[in-house]
Amino acid sequence: MLGALAAPAPDPIIALMQRLAADPRDGRIDLGVGVYRDAAGRTPVMGAVAAAEARILAAQQTKGYLGLAGDPGFLAAMVDLLLGASSDRVAAVATPGGSGALRQVLALVAQANPDAQVWIGVPSWPNHAAIAEGLGLAVRPHAYLDAGGGVDTAAMLADLEGARAGDVVVLHASCHNPSGADLTGDDWAAVADLCARRGLVPLVDVAYQGFGAGLEEDVAGLRHLAGGLPEVLVAASGSKSFGLYRERVGLALALCAGPAEAGRVGAALAALNRRNFAFPPDHGARVVTTILRDPVLCADWRAELAGIRRRVQANRSALAQALRVATQGAGFDALERQRGMFSLLDLAPDRIEALRERHAIYLVPDGRINIAGLTPATIPTVATAIATVLRG
Ligand code: LMR
Repeated sequence: MLGALAAPAPDPIIALMQRLAADPRDGRIDLGVGVYRDAAGRTPVMGAVAAAEARILAAQQTKGYLGLAGDPGFLAAMVDLLLGASSDRVAAVATPGGSGALRQVLALVAQANPDAQVWIGVPSWPNHAAIAEGLGLAVRPHAYLDAGGGVDTAAMLADLEGARAGDVVVLHASCHNPSGADLTGDDWAAVADLCARRGLVPLVDVAYQGFGAGLEEDVAGLRHLAGGLPEVLVAASGSKSFGLYRERVGLALALCAGPAEAGRVGAALAALNRRNFAFPPDHGARVVTTILRDPVLCADWRAELAGIRRRVQANRSALAQALRVATQGAGFDALERQRGMFSLLDLAPDRIEALRERHAIYLVPDGRINIAGLTPATIPTVATAIATVLRG
């Protein structure tokens, strides 16, 4: 039976991680997977996380099961963080990471409307389409980027005019992965109008809250949608904002037309958890709840996250400047304007391969660079190597 299975197409980000791990060269520079690194090249445990973990370790009396939806305190704290207020229209469950949340909200879509088409911008994070297709949902592409590294909103909206009522539109709350090009406030308003007019349901992926313009700013678009539309789906991750990558912290959320619908949808999400993995992981979720519900820990976390955000932005400016000098060219302004961990470098596949083979610099094959993986020490090396491969 199993011998008949074909090998799956590799996820480009995971394939790159594996390739890097197998590379014996010293001084490899990992600008692939989306993981934050500090100026010393480490991915630190945030101070508030370490303090919350110590508190949990000292006080926890049991590891007994919680409910299928996870800890209600976690759900409430995350709803506050995402939407700014609680609502009796919300159904939410804890999930293993942001990918688990995407899987659960899309499984909910597949149950509610198996004919739903899932509209995903080009480019997008590869797991969006992989999860939707894995659930048997049809994926439709829509335009996203303009030639200047911003969002081509007109082209995006024109494509979405082709969507049917009940279709789902995947949106990145902030820090677009892979481009760093985010929707403006006007763009969010236009998307909300289109969803309302055509009966489309937005699915907002919130993976980088706090990495872009700020904790509130990064979910302003989501809150605009939530304020005006009857139904909004959210897949949120605690991996980046709390640095809890391997703990798998996620939240699947559905804003429903009313409290009765929210009750049924909450039960459906809990049943989906039961079927897929039964109970969601608790440790990372408990860390997040402890931080969000303690004013001192929360202030500490916010301050550290603000520092991370400033460092990523400083990396953007430093890389843009280093590239201008190394290539003696202009054209790197978009790098500074874009937000979050990622930007796309305009490099042909053979140039990206040359960076990897000759300079041990790892970028995702589509040209995505993890700005948050750069350090003051690696920025000049990377800029010089890019200039070298561009010269051929
Ligand atoms: C990324 O885009 O690199 C991260 O979100 C990690 C992942 O799972 O792909």
